[in-house]
Formats: sequence, structure tokens, C-alpha cells
Amino acid sequence: MDRIRIVGGRRLDGIIPISGAKNAALPLMIASLLTEQTLVLENVPRLADVALLQRILGNHGVDIMVGGKRPGETADHGQTLHISAANIVDTTAPYELVSKMRASFWVLAPLVARMGEARVSMPGGCAIGTRPVDLLIMAIARLGAAIEIDSGYVVARAPRGLKGAEIVFPKVTVGGTHTAIMAAALADGTTVIENAAREPEIVDLADCLNKMGARISGAGSRRIVIDGVAKLNGARHTVLPDRIETGTYAMAVAMAGGEILLQNTRVDLLQAPIDVLVRTGVTVTPTNRGIRVARNGGGLEPVEVTTAPFPEFPTDLQAQLMALMTRARGTSHIVETVFENRFMHVQELARLGARIQLDGEKATIEGVERLKGAPVMATDLRASVSLVIAALAAEGETLVNRVYHLDRGFERLEEKLGRCGAAIERLSG
Ligand code: UD1
Repeated sequence: MDRIRIVGGRRLDGIIPISGAKNAALPLMIASLLTEQTLVLENVPRLADVALLQRILGNHGVDIMVGGKRPGETADHGQTLHISAANIVDTTAPYELVSKMRASFWVLAPLVARMGEARVSMPGGCAIGTRPVDLLIMAIARLGAAIEIDSGYVVARAPRGLKGAEIVFPKVTVGGTHTAIMAAALADGTTVIENAAREPEIVDLADCLNKMGARISGAGSRRIVIDGVAKLNGARHTVLPDRIETGTYAMAVAMAGGEILLQNTRVDLLQAPIDVLVRTGVTVTPTNRGIRVARNGGGLEPVEVTTAPFPEFPTDLQAQLMALMTRARGTSHIVETVFENRFMHVQELARLGARIQLDGEKATIEGVERLKGAPVMATDLRASVSLVIAALAAEGETLVNRVYHLDRGFERLEEKLGRCGAAIERLSG
């Protein structure tokens, strides 16, 4: 198993190109199941989760062609996928595949919408607490699918097609909103989604589906209205920049000190995290090439932050902010309201010398003068990158084990940080 070795104490200076968003690329790839024509997705990140979804879609009969290199292109360009679900040969998504990546459960919606039936394994346990799929199933049932749970599988049937309806989510859910949008796109009649998730990735999915001929309005607000159409066409769509990767590298610069241009990304995707960074004393400047982030010399001020659905501070940046606050000049508080039990990084940060106390959903972080490198273990995607951030400011060597978590969501992390001066390398095997 690969490990990452980091020697802390180096400034970060230079340019970091931001990749296409993993959390947009996955639902966009899944949306290809809604049409028999080819969907071309540009700026798709090269990530383990994307490769796994390619396998899962392949199992349903989807052909995916990866575009070749174009003149002037470097590894910093995302890949172009030509996705064709002309022939869906299998409407079952098996446990072996779905259990490896929760988002693959989302194939349920387009499969039942287009094929009239789907059999998708329940995703099962996950390192960040119980993550049920009851609201995703509720959305599909509201549109008229008959649902049955059979040996760990959700079986959804709508042989005569789905019917538009009102879907009211009791809790904001990204996966639930993606599911409802995809199912309603091909339903007969109008669907209204209330208390919809407002994440930029929801807007990206709706934009792409509209290019494919769907009639979706209100994405990005709490109320989304979808007039179902009989058929969707192919389209070409560019995946939006990854706001979590953007925020992660912004926090890395804040931690290490230095000045970085985060290229090909936009502040409107992460205004709340930027406001928090500014409160810590970091300088953030939007430019027409991206976002410039700098911390030259000054210390970090502590902050009080509560995670919540977009546009609030994202849970996917909670671990990274916590790593940063371990070096603040005072005590910070972070409250996690989106997922229970999403504090596994706390024990590992403590191994580097962090002082963090947990009380239910609230973490109290007492800033320390120095962190000291140690071997640590990555437990999930965002937790693992928080260890990298802490290691950038720790004295001596940190070895991050179980790097496969990082590879699920961060493209060439060691290369992007290494080019800016970090002492970071991947040890294979
Ligand atoms: C997505 C993101 C993930 C991010 C999360 C919250 C992708 C691929 N993943 O995950 O990175 O951390 O949004 O921003 O885009 N819930 C239920 N019942 C359900 C579904 C969800 O109770 O049927 C709960 C969850 O347990 C959680 C909350 O709703 O407490 C939000 O989860 P949700 O927004 O659905 O997260 P995901 O879509 O799984």
C-alpha cells in the first residue's frame, strides 16, 4: 500500500491547478444512463472514484471512451469522457461495486426512469457514520415507483414510467436531490422538489441535463421544478471546478505560509470557507485566473465554525479547517451538523501533537506552538488530506498511511504540492 512522506516546515509558493469537481463528475457520468445518445464530459478529474464509476457503468452496458491528448495539453487538463448508454444490458448494480462507493447508489434513479426497473445494492456502512438512503428511496417512490427491499438490494419498478409529483425533503440531501432530479427528468408531468440541496454540483447536473433537453428550473434554490420530457439527447458539458480541492489547497497555504494562485476556480463556489480563512488572517484575492491565497509571516487567528449544507461551510472541509486550527493563536470551536461521527481525524491529529477535545458534535481545538511529525493513518477521504495539511507545518517527518483514500478524491496531490515547494513524496508498496 502506498504511503505519503512529508517533511514539514516549507513555504508553498507558485500555482496549483484545480481539477474538475469529483462530486459533480460522478452524478454527471451517472446521468448518461438517461439517454441512448452520447454524453461528452470535459474536465473530468483522474480519480480512483471516477475509474470505479466507469467500471460500474460498464457493468450496465455503458461504453466509455477516454479522449486522447490534444496539442498543448498537459496532465493538468482534465480528461474528456465520451459516454454512451445506447444499450443498457443489466439494470442490477451489485454489492461488490456499490459498497466501494456510495454515490454509485445514485444509478437507481436513471435506471428506473429509463428502463422501468432497477436493482441496486444498499451501500452499507461507511467510515463517516450511518449514511442512510431512505430519502433517495422516498423520492423515487413519490414518483410512483414500487419499492421492495430484497436481500440487501433496493428493487424499484415503474413499468409504465414515473409520474411527476411533489417531493418534500425533511432534511437537505445532495444525493436525494440528484436522485429526484434525474428521476423527474424523464417522468410524465411536473415534479416540484422542496427543500432541495443548493450545492453548485446540483446546478451543474441541472445545467447538463437541460443541455440534453430536460426542463429543469430553480436549481441552486430551495425549490426545483422539473417538467418531464419523453426523451433526452446527447450533449457536451464541462465539469465545474472542485470547490473542496480549492478550499483544501487554500488551507494548505494558510498552514504552510506562502503565496499560491489556485488556477481555474472561482470564489462564488466557496464564499463561506473563504470568509473563514480571511477571519484567520489569510489574504484571499479573486483574480481572472483563479484565486490568490497568501499568508506571509503573520499567525493564525482562531475561529468558530459550524458546518451545514451549501451555502454554509461544507462538511467536506471540516477536517482540513480543524488541522489548520491546531496551529491557531487561541481556542477554536468547530460544530459538525451534517454527518455524525465525522471526527476520526481527531485521534490522528493528536498523534502530531494537536490538542482537540470532542463533545458530541462539537470539537474544541486549542492551538499549539508546534506539531511534530509521526506516522498517521488516513481513515477517509477528507480526514486523510487534513493529515497532509497538518504535516506541512509539523517538525520533521510524517508518514501518511492508507493513501488510497486520498487517491479517491485528490488528483496528483503530491505533485501539485511538491511543485510549490512542499517536501512531499509517495512511497510505493
Ligand atoms: C454528498 C457528497 C459528500 C458531502 C455530502 C454533504 C457526493 C458524491 N458526496 O454526499 O462529499 O459530504 O454530500 O455535503 O456528492 N441522509 C439521510 N437519508 C438519506 C440521505 C441522506 O438521512 O436518504 C442524511 C445523511 O446521513 C447526512 C445528510 O442527510 O446526515 C446529508 O447527506 P447527503 O447530502 O445526502 O450526502 P451525500 O449525497 O451522501
